[in-house]
Amino acid sequence: MATSTHPIISCPNNISFSTKSSPRNFSRPSQIFINPSRAAARRGDVKIRCAASSEGADGHQNPDSLSSAKLDRRNVLLGLGGLYGAYNLAGGSNPFALADPIPIPDLSHCGKAIISNTKDNEEVPYSCCPPPFDGPYVDYKIPTFSQLNCRPAAHAVDDEYLYKYKTAIQKMKDLPDDDPRNFYQQAKVHCAYCNEAYKLNEKSYQIHYTWLFFPFHRWYLYFYERILQSLIDDPTFTLPYWNWDNPQGMILPEIFDDDESSPLYDTLRNQNHRKGYVMDLAYAGDESYASDFQKVKNNLAVMYRQMVTNAPCPLLFFGKPLRADNDWAHSGMGTIENIPHNSIHRWVGDPREKHNEDMGNFYSAARDSVFYCHHSNVDRMWTLWKTLGGNRKDIADPDWLQTEFLFYDETKTLVKVKVADCVDNERLGYTFEKMPTPWKDFKPTRKRKGKLKRTAKSVSASTTVLPATLDKIRTFYVTRSPTSTPAGKEEMLDLTFDYDDTQFIRFDVFLNEDEEVNTKELDRIEYAGSFSNLPHVHKPTDDSNTTTTSTNTTFSLAISEVLQDLRLQGDDKILVTLVPKAGGSFVTVTETKTEIIDC
Ligand code: C2O
Repeated sequence: MATSTHPIISCPNNISFSTKSSPRNFSRPSQIFINPSRAAARRGDVKIRCAASSEGADGHQNPDSLSSAKLDRRNVLLGLGGLYGAYNLAGGSNPFALADPIPIPDLSHCGKAIISNTKDNEEVPYSCCPPPFDGPYVDYKIPTFSQLNCRPAAHAVDDEYLYKYKTAIQKMKDLPDDDPRNFYQQAKVHCAYCNEAYKLNEKSYQIHYTWLFFPFHRWYLYFYERILQSLIDDPTFTLPYWNWDNPQGMILPEIFDDDESSPLYDTLRNQNHRKGYVMDLAYAGDESYASDFQKVKNNLAVMYRQMVTNAPCPLLFFGKPLRADNDWAHSGMGTIENIPHNSIHRWVGDPREKHNEDMGNFYSAARDSVFYCHHSNVDRMWTLWKTLGGNRKDIADPDWLQTEFLFYDETKTLVKVKVADCVDNERLGYTFEKMPTPWKDFKPTRKRKGKLKRTAKSVSASTTVLPATLDKIRTFYVTRSPTSTPAGKEEMLDLTFDYDDTQFIRFDVFLNEDEEVNTKELDRIEYAGSFSNLPHVHKPTDDSNTTTTSTNTTFSLAISEVLQDLRLQGDDKILVTLVPKAGGSFVTVTETKTEIIDC
């Protein structure tokens, strides 16, 4: 167990940026990228200060006061019967469900990993199974610590840090091939949990597209970081995070691209996305669709939608349940996994490679060290999301909390961990360097001047238009039922569709949009959200002859905030426009409706 006294945070240098940097106030794109490079920090152009002020660099609450509040609450709850009981008391989405948490994978039945669901079921050319362990696994105990480590933003690290990071990764690469801490063995951990090497209830096990996405990757990075620490004998070393939610971090971090002989460099990346090329967080393969300035505004709008508008309830943020029965048909992605997580994988991966290796496919993604930096920010999103208020809390369902994973730790011991023990990153001994979070104030606004030219009367009902393939923009109206949402509940727009899961797909959803859809601007009030699919494997049965790549899913978008902003709360029909951006011809929308859910 971690020490119960409030630990000291070792974030020595918090870089202070101007909080006047809300892009809304920008008139020129160049103003967005204030001090994007480490070079500026080295030259001393960037003001460095210690993390002692009562307000964070983003003008929001002090992390110290937040964490002490959290610790106090935890201490009280622990007194009431331990973490497990505590989260039940916090109110569960499904407190009376039959206990059905996923146990550790059966390593003795670890099998071949599959790259893609295509007819030939193309196999990963090597085994993704972990090296054998002599003896039983060990229940992991979180070691005590007296200081919280601080994960730095990748664009703001100094040379000393970079030297340590490169040294640690090089040492990891130099370990014997069969050492479970070896760089490529670590990459296989991801492959094993994501590409069917493990079975669950006799069907393939896949932790993506489910509520296990956040906790699996948190534990995975936790042990990865501890291995790096032990290799350089520095228990304060941490992984950096790719600060893609902040305009200053919306490029491939320089530290992964500064030197092609660096252990952090990977040749299998999109060569057009290097050297300061501005990211598109909802990347769909289109390079030139918008100016850098518009891309940044779109990115912030996407972040606002994924963290705030579309994730007011736990399962919307984390993803839908996956329990021991492996009922894949009812699982689904949370907002951040969908976008920007998936799209950034695609943005980094090499389009010259068959499966967009390395980052563009789960089996190979963790062979690129930027993977861990990307996921460190995904992990940070979990922590930030819980500070946004409302129902933004961890899932209370015991099946989530009691799900178990196996990892090798830094001593090459096979250890068993539980989701419940990772929900608080500070309990695991780390926090994140403060950086601006401009998306929090980037609620998309009304841009259209004048009235909507078309009305629900001039378009057809979804029941007439659907089923329809998204080979072009589709517009229909959906009759709402009911039209009022009681407090604490959320209105959802459910889109049910079949799609080819071997394809890269993205489409955007707009509400109350006019005939001329401006598909380039997402920083508009009408933009409701997006769906993306990274090609992945998951077969609904264990029948290896299954050649179907079609998956049926219901994509549910929280729309209460957008309806309110559009002042449409009282209308009984909503105008929905679906704009395909990639792979639309592989999507057939069959049905749509609205529903009110409990958060
Ligand atoms: Cu496990 Cu970003 O994927």
